[in-house]
Amino acid sequence: MEATFLVHDEQTVIIRGERFRKYLTAETIRSRTEEMGARISEEYAGKKPILIGVLNGAFMFLADLMRAIDIDCEVDFLKLSSYGAAKISSGEVKELKRIDADIEDRHVIVVEDIVDTGLSMDYLMSQLQTKNPASLKSATLLHKFEATTVDVQLDYIGFRIRNLFVVGYGLDYGQVGRNLPEIYILEDQMGPGTEPERVSK
Ligand code: IMP
Repeated sequence: MEATFLVHDEQTVIIRGERFRKYLTAETIRSRTEEMGARISEEYAGKKPILIGVLNGAFMFLADLMRAIDIDCEVDFLKLSSYGAAKISSGEVKELKRIDADIEDRHVIVVEDIVDTGLSMDYLMSQLQTKNPASLKSATLLHKFEATTVDVQLDYIGFRIRNLFVVGYGLDYGQVGRNLPEIYILEDQMGPGTEPERVSK
């Protein structure tokens, strides 16, 4: 069987024949996730929020974010259609799995790994709003701010990044690379001004 994933060295992995370089270390992701969790704990004290993770990509971030929240909270998942093996968003959103929880009168936080065009998050926010939650917010580890084409509501953002293709920490390239504990970008896209930016949100 042909290998689709190869750890080349400390800084590089090769996925489907393309070279990716380390971009966000596990430690950087952890410290930012802890800050986000602390803020959510503070803002939702006494409220028991329900975190809704968007499968597949958000499972890893959601697991760490939830561990960084020290108030009572619940979890559920939904799934939207993915890009397949393409690196560019098709712009079409389909719901493949719905949530099981009844979110009426609940405080809901939608958790994404990455917001790119914003179409998925925008679609989800408007879908979930029809179920009459007590409040509805969104959290994403990464926001490709230059790629976002809709005016999507983003309440908690881990890092703002340029329009770069990333893999690892739940994010995939054609289903490969999700298990990498750190986040990598395409080597060809590296350059000045591509560093991730921590935002105050
Ligand atoms: P959007 O609807 O264009 O905002 O796309 C959101 C979804 O696209 C995310 O949940 C990811 O699954 C996927 N995605 C967007 N950018 C990337 C990327 O750079 N690497 C891997 N998946 C991505």
